[in-house]
Amino acid sequence: MHWLEGRIVCLPSELDRPGFGLAPRFLERLRESPTVVIHSAWTVNFSLRIGSFGQHFAATRNLIGLAAEGGARFYFVSSTAAVINNASSSSGTIAETVSVDPADTTPLGYSKSKWVAENICAAAHERYISEARAGESGNHPVGGQERKTGPPPVSIIRVGQLFANHLGIWNESEAYPLMLSTASFTGCLPDLGDAPLNWLPVELAAQAVMEIALGRRGDDSVAPAQSSGGESREGDGDDDGIPVYHVLNPHRQPTWREMLDLISSSGDSDGRQQQQSAFSFETVPPSVWAKRLEASLNSGTSGHSSQGLLDLWKGKYSEDQQSSSSGGGGDGSDGAKAATAATKSGPVFELERTQAASRTMRDIQPLDRTRILLMWKWLQESSGLCR
Ligand SMILES: NC(=O)c1ccc[n+]([C@@H]2O[C@H](COP(=O)([O-])OP(=O)(O)OC[C@H]3O[C@@H](n4cnc5c(N)ncnc54)[C@H](OP(=O)(O)O)[C@@H]3O)[C@@H](O)[C@H]2O)c1
Repeated sequence: MHWLEGRIVCLPSELDRPGFGLAPRFLERLRESPTVVIHSAWTVNFSLRIGSFGQHFAATRNLIGLAAEGGARFYFVSSTAAVINNASSSSGTIAETVSVDPADTTPLGYSKSKWVAENICAAAHERYISEARAGESGNHPVGGQERKTGPPPVSIIRVGQLFANHLGIWNESEAYPLMLSTASFTGCLPDLGDAPLNWLPVELAAQAVMEIALGRRGDDSVAPAQSSGGESREGDGDDDGIPVYHVLNPHRQPTWREMLDLISSSGDSDGRQQQQSAFSFETVPPSVWAKRLEASLNSGTSGHSSQGLLDLWKGKYSEDQQSSSSGGGGDGSDGAKAATAATKSGPVFELERTQAASRTMRDIQPLDRTRILLMWKWLQESSGLCR
């Protein structure tokens, strides 16, 4: 394989191992040429405890080290779940800054792992900045290897709940698609009331991440390149704190209930009713749905992947914790946030830095009904739900 044969080269590796477990010739090539390292590999599993994420912390440190050696910028793809319980702000707004209070995250191991990794990034960034200030050069503190240039900046991109692409295709193993697909065997879906569908189509999230990471703001202009000494690009922040970006849909509509109304009787893009959905469902209180789901799963007839989320949902939708403001346990709106969210429909995420860096984020529209219907159609077809 020639190194630059294609635009994409896949290197099977173990990110938490020294040298990523790569053959020396590949490792050398990697060390020579990085300009941007975007770290998004993570175990998205809401059942795991924080202790299971050790390899991811090691991988994060390794990748920061790789970026440091090559003078590259490093972007860590985090989750809004890392800070969703931040209720300290009187405005109810979550700032584009790193959290120093572990109480800002949720009880899920996954959310905690993102909080910890953000703080690993912040510590690395702080170290780089202080070294730059001292005019030091020499050994890198994280990777332990000599770096070629001054300290590279480290940034965090917090991503909110992602949504299906333009064909309606979503990740079948995610919490919300799993929740919606339970309609096929429970005959019902939970009424989550006016919970906002602040979900971001996946291709827009990818576009925004690229605009932020490559310094291309999406309006044909390029942000001035950030020097390896930690000087700020436009939108990167005005102090030495680690830059944090929020890639999410800021719109609060449509709501969950509006979505259920839409999908329960499939309509065309103008909202005209065409035909009944492939299967019908009742809209019931969340606790009723959770009980019916448990009964179905226990009967052993469904063998559905939602089994792994049952305990999370049961805890969240117990009768004494009825909430109409909470989501389905998905990333960025996970199961425990509702109890402490700053506002009934969840906190507002600051977007100033993000929107300065990304046109895509400036132009985000509310989730459109055509795409919701495409998603519903795909879900029924792909899950074998039509019956
Ligand atoms: N989807 C969302 O709504 C959402 C919201 C907020 C943040 N995020 C973040 O966005 C990123 C991507 O999420 P996703 O939804 O695309 O999740 P996903 O479909 O589960 O993809 C995660 C990817 O990470 C890889 N991975 C996991 N552990 C790894 C390891 N130890 N070494 C190498 N690769 C590893 C997986 O590889 P395999 O397939 O080989 O296992 C998979 O390709 C994650 O960091 C997630 O936390 C996602």
